[in-house]
Amino acid sequence: MSKNLIKLTLELVKPQFRLNLDHGHHGIGHWARVWRNARELCEAEGLDPRVPCLFSFLHDSQRFDEGSDSHHGTRARVWIEKLFLQNQLPISIAEFHLLSLAVEGHSHGQTEAHPIVQVCWDADRLDLGRVGIQPHARYLCTAHAKKPETIRSAYLRSIQIPIECRL
Ligand SMILES: [Fe+2]
Repeated sequence: MSKNLIKLTLELVKPQFRLNLDHGHHGIGHWARVWRNARELCEAEGLDPRVPCLFSFLHDSQRFDEGSDSHHGTRARVWIEKLFLQNQLPISIAEFHLLSLAVEGHSHGQTEAHPIVQVCWDADRLDLGRVGIQPHARYLCTAHAKKPETIRSAYLRSIQIPIECRL
């Protein structure tokens, strides 16, 4: 399921992505780690990973720059709406609604939301180490994401320390 969904999503995102796909802070490496985090959180929280999967590969799709780009979530939500109305996203109306909420609000710092939306936001925030920010439980939503071991493991992945060098 997820492999097909990722393939389809990347085929939509890659041709129109404006930033450095392979080496940028908000490129494919980040999306893959967000998806890695989301899978773990969905498993721990007993949630369907479909919407978090789409979120991982779509939430930064409409960035104009690598900074805060405060309207990128809204632009991505509008783009996703267009794709959905064109039948290019294989999701239900309920899933589309959750995906829209997650994408629109992902950089606003909120923590209260539907559990699926919370997983999306946590998966993204757990990858902040790549831009020099240590994730903090205060800004995370789900019980599993707030665990010190979850934060530490995600942080190490985000700064890409090879396994054999980890303490
Ligand atoms: Fe992100």
